[in-house]
Amino acid sequence: MSEQPLFKVTIDNITIEVPAGTTILEAARKIGGEVAPPTMCYYSKLKGSGGKCRTCLVEVSKGSEKDPRPMPKLVASCRTTIMDGMEVKNITSPKVLDARAGVVEFLLLNHPLDCPICDQAGECHLQDLSYEHGKEKTRYEFQKRVFHKVDLGDKIQLHMTRCILCYRCVFTADQLTTNREHGILDRGDHSQIATFIQKNLQNDFIGNVIDVCPVGALTDKTFRFKNRVWFTKPVDAHRDCDKCCGEVQLWMRGDEVYRVTARKDEWGEVKESSKGSTGWICNECRFDKKKVSDWIIEGPSNINRHSVISQGHYVGLKKPNETLSKVMQGRDPKLLMNIHEVSEVNKENIQLSLLERPAHSNDFNQ
Ligand code: SF4
Ligand code: FES
Repeated sequence: MSEQPLFKVTIDNITIEVPAGTTILEAARKIGGEVAPPTMCYYSKLKGSGGKCRTCLVEVSKGSEKDPRPMPKLVASCRTTIMDGMEVKNITSPKVLDARAGVVEFLLLNHPLDCPICDQAGECHLQDLSYEHGKEKTRYEFQKRVFHKVDLGDKIQLHMTRCILCYRCVFTADQLTTNREHGILDRGDHSQIATFIQKNLQNDFIGNVIDVCPVGALTDKTFRFKNRVWFTKPVDAHRDCDKCCGEVQLWMRGDEVYRVTARKDEWGEVKESSKGSTGWICNECRFDKKKVSDWIIEGPSNINRHSVISQGHYVGLKKPNETLSKVMQGRDPKLLMNIHEVSEVNKENIQLSLLERPAHSNDFNQ
């Protein structure tokens, strides 16, 4: 990279120098903040990603120093490389903001508005995008798409109606696992993510499709319907793993681990691990290690303060000492109600996080 000549590019009136061959999007990410266009399909850690969703559109108001003509149409910043002296407008261009609102409307044509029951709510990129760039109403009057249910196995849940066909999960399966068994079938509005003759996805690293999916189309079956993400507390933790880097985020409530994911960076992408490679995690760390004792806890994760997840506050990761019986000189409190004794459904010994699926009434009736 050091032999590459440096090109000057100005994005939203901020000029930086980046190596030739850098895309407008990567240059904008170097500046950071709102100058970086939103992305729904581009993922810097996946080769070939980008160019599908058009959320990263920008206006090129000056092509280059040699040829200063503006580009006639808005361009996808994740797929357009910079030229020396290029000038780009993102949030300073009303045209871009208008087009982006159109793209959001387009992405939402078929996407159900089921955020209140979707496990991705609170960390969904489409939810954020619609709040930041969307319109209040849709002009679409037709029925949204429906699909036959496809079972992707015992760990990953597919909701095809929520899929925006970004292809990230297909690239993940292609580039991380030994054997891709799913892809996008059919064309046009019939396109859908499906497994080849309903094969289950059983590869060791396939769980990473959950982390790259920008919407709630692929979710973790072991976490499904167990908790809202903003009630859980993300904690950085690691373990010695012979398959992956073993560096994860535990999503805890009290001292129960509800979910394990890879760590994410400020762009919502899987972070680099301390060993320098991308911190993809294996299925064993993700789905099978749901006890605090499986992990070495490092401390609370850094969460962007604008995220709804940061609204919950840490009250300490250890259970406080039980002081009531001390105060009452060893006697149990009589006037306080133990909800487990009076409730038909709240059984003390049921650890929701250890159930490998959503909780069911049968769990409480046993
Ligand atoms: S399932 Fe998710 S990651 Fe895969 S194409 Fe659809 S939106 Fe993208
Ligand atoms: S992020 Fe550039 S087209 Fe999707």
